[in-house]
Amino acid sequence: MSKTYVITGSTSGIGRALLERIAPESVVFAGYRNETHKAELESVSPNICPFYVDYAKPETIKTAADYILSKTEKIDRLINIAGCVVAGPIEKIEISELRRQFDVNVFGHLELTQRLLEKLDGGRIINISSMASFGVFPFVAPYCASKRTLDMLFNSMLLETKHNIEVVSIKPGVIATPLWSKSVDENSKYFEKYGDFQKEMKYLVANALSNEKDGLSVEKVVDTILKADTSNKPRLSYTVGADSFCASLTAKLPQGLVNKLIRLGIKLKCRK
Ligand SMILES: NC(=O)c1ccc[n+]([C@@H]2O[C@H](COP(=O)([O-])OP(=O)(O)OC[C@H]3O[C@@H](n4cnc5c(N)ncnc54)[C@H](OP(=O)(O)O)[C@@H]3O)[C@@H](O)[C@H]2O)c1
Repeated sequence: MSKTYVITGSTSGIGRALLERIAPESVVFAGYRNETHKAELESVSPNICPFYVDYAKPETIKTAADYILSKTEKIDRLINIAGCVVAGPIEKIEISELRRQFDVNVFGHLELTQRLLEKLDGGRIINISSMASFGVFPFVAPYCASKRTLDMLFNSMLLETKHNIEVVSIKPGVIATPLWSKSVDENSKYFEKYGDFQKEMKYLVANALSNEKDGLSVEKVVDTILKADTSNKPRLSYTVGADSFCASLTAKLPQGLVNKLIRLGIKLKCRK
């Protein structure tokens, strides 16, 4: 029997590539935030039911959940993929931007999950976290904190719940997707307010743009999602890429040593 999936962030990058792989044999509720993507999603397969949700507008979540609940008796997999990156020096960052980071990467996923839980019994939640969950990368701390929080809250839910659900966290390293250039577009309008940090912001932009070209293929993440989807006994956490695996090891070192290494890295990278 075919499985029923709910996927957010299905219009680009990892989510879009996953959709191509699962839509032929499954029912897929696919989240979009931009109306122009609706018809495009429908054209991929008749098995796809697009639904609108914008996590930066939390009032859209209830309508999205009510629509899904009205259309299906069960959900086998909820795959929380939608995400964005808020970057900047913590001492200067707009608090409204920090809130947006948590609305999109944490609270949106949690609220949709809470609202769908009744039909997820016996099912599985797969969260697309990040290697950023293992620690703080300077100037993208909002993103790191959001991914860590996502993992902590969902792990607590797993420990507490009386529902029969499994929770998996997938932590990719750098993946070649449009996330990087979107993050440059969304964050660079604030850079002039960041005074002394122009060299660091310049490095951040150059690094993001090269990551978009040089990162691992989305298919590596999709393969891991499908492994977590089909395994009889999925692990709680999967890394994708050598960089994510290294981050998992670095997270075990004393914070003081990690800080020393990061400070050295910033000095070398932002010298120019
Ligand atoms: N790329 C990487 O290196 C990397 C590494 C580790 C983890 N991840 C995580 O992987 C997930 C997918 O990212 P990606 O790399 O595939 O990036 P992407 O191509 O930018 O895809 C992000 C998806 O999330 C959607 N989205 C963004 N803001 C949203 C909002 N406010 N409400 C609802 N949906 C929203 C986007 O919609 P639009 O198409 O309308 O923009 C898109 O469908 C994210 O959670 C990201 O943090 C990525």
